Amino acid sequence: MIMRKEIATFTVNGHEYEVIIEPHMLLIDVLRDKLGLTGTKYACGAGDCGACTVLIDGNPTFSCLTLAVTAKGKSILTIEGLADGTELHPIQKAFVDRGAIQCGYCTPGMVLTAKALLDENPQPTRQEIKQGLAGNLCRCTGYVKIIEAVETAACAMRNGG
Ligand code: FES
Ligand code: FES
Repeated sequence: MIMRKEIATFTVNGHEYEVIIEPHMLLIDVLRDKLGLTGTKYACGAGDCGACTVLIDGNPTFSCLTLAVTAKGKSILTIEGLADGTELHPIQKAFVDRGAIQCGYCTPGMVLTAKALLDENPQPTRQEIKQGLAGNLCRCTGYVKIIEAVETAACAMRNGG
C-alpha cells in the first residue's frame, strides 16, 4: 500500500509548525512525537478517558481519535500553551491550590476541558461542572477537589485573574 506523505502546517499554541505526516497519523502522535509536546497524555486510545484532550478552535477534542490531517489550519491549544510565561493560568493555579492533582496524568486534559467549559459558561453550577468534565476520568482524586478547583478558577477568572 502506498502511503502518501505530505507537509502539513499546524498552529499549536499560537506557533506554526510544518510537519511531515501520513494520512493515518493521529494528532496525539504529531503533538507528542513530532513536536515534543508531551503534556498531552495517552491512556486508553479509545475515547474513554479524556487524558489526550486538546482544544481545537476552542473545543475539547480527543487527540487519540483525531486524524492529524483534519487539524490542519485549525488552532490547537495544548497544556503547554496555557500558562502566560511563568504565570500559570488561573485554572492551573486552582488545581494546584485545591490539591486537585495527584499523579497528574489526567490533569492536562481536565484543565483544558475546564477551560473550554469556563470560556463558554463563566459561572457554571456544580452540576454543570460535573457534566462538562464527564468525559475526563481521574483514577486518583475522587473528583471532589477537581470540581472545587474549577469553581475556584471560575471565581478567579470572573474577578479578572
Ligand atoms: S487517550 Fe484519548 S480518550 Fe483516552
Ligand atoms: S490525578 Fe491521577 S488520574 Fe487524575
